[in-house]
Amino acid sequence: MQADLVIVGAGLYGLTIAERAANELGLKVAIVDRRGHIGGNAYTEREARTGIEVHRYGAHLFHTSNEKVWAYVNQFTGFTGYVHHVYTTHNGEVFPMPINLGTINQFLHAALTPQQARDWVREQAGELAGTDPENLNDKGIQLIGRPLYEAFIKYYTGKQWQTDPKDLSASIINRLPVRYTYDNRYFNDTHEGLPVDGYTAWFERMVDNPNIEVHLNTDFFDNGEFGKAATVGSVPVVYTGPVDRYFDYAEGELGWRTIDLEEEVLPIEDFQGCAVMNYPDPDVKFTRIHEFRHFHPERDYTKDATVIMREYSRFAGRDDEPYYPVNTADDRAKILKYRERVKAEKQILFGGRLGSYKYFDMHMAIGSALSMYENKLKPHFAAGEALV
Ligand code: FAD
Ligand code: NA
Repeated sequence: MQADLVIVGAGLYGLTIAERAANELGLKVAIVDRRGHIGGNAYTEREARTGIEVHRYGAHLFHTSNEKVWAYVNQFTGFTGYVHHVYTTHNGEVFPMPINLGTINQFLHAALTPQQARDWVREQAGELAGTDPENLNDKGIQLIGRPLYEAFIKYYTGKQWQTDPKDLSASIINRLPVRYTYDNRYFNDTHEGLPVDGYTAWFERMVDNPNIEVHLNTDFFDNGEFGKAATVGSVPVVYTGPVDRYFDYAEGELGWRTIDLEEEVLPIEDFQGCAVMNYPDPDVKFTRIHEFRHFHPERDYTKDATVIMREYSRFAGRDDEPYYPVNTADDRAKILKYRERVKAEKQILFGGRLGSYKYFDMHMAIGSALSMYENKLKPHFAAGEALV
């Protein structure tokens, strides 16, 4: 196929660009992805034995307050009424998250009113009041006081970063929200839900156009028909892979965290009674356990088995899947240099979480792709403007 536009990466960013370019402008679009499926990190599939929809790269909950994004995604899928809640097992006891009045009262075996709970937290946080904490540990204590910080945040964060919070920068957190109500709804967005017939069905509908060709198991850096050498400079490219990789790590490697997921099928109906259970204590090595049946209580899943995944967090090496930007001062200096290089590249745009070295939720990836389409690609293809 002679492509008008080549897209590297079939994640939500690339899929959104492809859908708009093909459906609105009638362009011929080639998407390459080195993985064997579309959807990027939001990909899900039915676990073979149970039929339970499993999120292969970690649990993905869709939520947004962006009306434009909400209207856009609803063209391709309906959403269930799923509302996300998270619980946490600390010292052999289960508490609701995020930290709220229920968490505090259970923790203190008390019946504090909202005002009494505020006063108690302020009193605890007073331990480091007026200081300017440099490390995450002191910052956490200053924000919510030592008791709640040490129970629910300290070791959890330590496990996420595989680093003692005393050795982490205070800048990683600006706030630790505490809710002084019993509301333990995890997200505050206007819209929330899970795609009715699964993420993959949603993504397939986005590229269901004869003008979109998807080339799986195809690495942009191999010398193929739609590889870097054959495309950049001669056909417009949208690149959503890692920005440092594109430039052969010329400014050094950007730091990422990755996760390891350990799947288990258990011969019971229900393992933990909820979708996500956090484990904030230091003696447990994983950070949380996902149980996928609970994402779809409306489905008629088997009662004979359930699928769980334990999640472990660590720093990513070059061959690991990059998940969350580490964003040290060193990383920030490197990304500024890469952005200069990006500006100098012709006929190619960089986007998505890997291309911009930013954590994006799904709705942000879609919103950002829609902006790139409206502000850059459409003016280029429809009005002949330069692609920069
Ligand atoms: P990706 O989905 O990463 O897609 C990039 C694609 O580029 C990948 O498929 C990759 O294979 C491909 N690629 C890279 N290099 C090459 C190459 N050289 N050649 C060809 N292809 C290449 N968001 C939410 O809204 N809710 C959640 O609950 C949520 N949970 C998350 C949990 C985890 C563990 C992670 C990591 C992310 C989560 N997100 C969540 C964020 C969500 O995954 C992202 O918003 C989304 O993946 C961004 O899409 P993207 O297209 O930018 O990147
Ligand atoms: Na450019």
